[in-house]
Amino acid sequence: MMQSTFAIIKPDAVSSLFTGEILAAMEAAGLKIVALKRLHLSKDQAAGFYAVHRDRPFFDSLTDYMSSGPVVCVVLRGEDAVPRWRALMGATNPAQAEPGTLRAKYGQSLEANAVHGSDAQETAAFEIGYFFSGLEISE
Ligand code: CMP
Repeated sequence: MMQSTFAIIKPDAVSSLFTGEILAAMEAAGLKIVALKRLHLSKDQAAGFYAVHRDRPFFDSLTDYMSSGPVVCVVLRGEDAVPRWRALMGATNPAQAEPGTLRAKYGQSLEANAVHGSDAQETAAFEIGYFFSGLEISE
């Protein structure tokens, strides 16, 4: 099924100059980049994005980290884009991510794990809408 999903290249990966390699990996996996922007989130903006995690013990640290430097936000489109992007990222914790996955290659810790991806199509719709207007997405 054709799907859209949402990806973030997180501050650790952007500051380590992995943006280009990660964008290339998306395209090599057959995921089309249909929208793209680089921005530095405020803590409040990061909290809005991760609102689903607001009661988790790691929320304050996560939103500090995600507002610590620029991120690159990407809308990806392709066949089964949601699970395909999750497979390419690997497990949330880089220490447990399968060799060859982006988190295994570029992640530094459970928090600074290089990339984010939507976990379902409904989540993707919220996450895409949080960052992009319809005018900014071209298929
Ligand atoms: P992400 O896919 O962006 O979704 C929420 C993020 O919280 C997750 O990646 C991790 O970077 C971060 N995080 C920090 N601590 C934890 C934890 N204990 N369990 C899950 N995610 C965590």
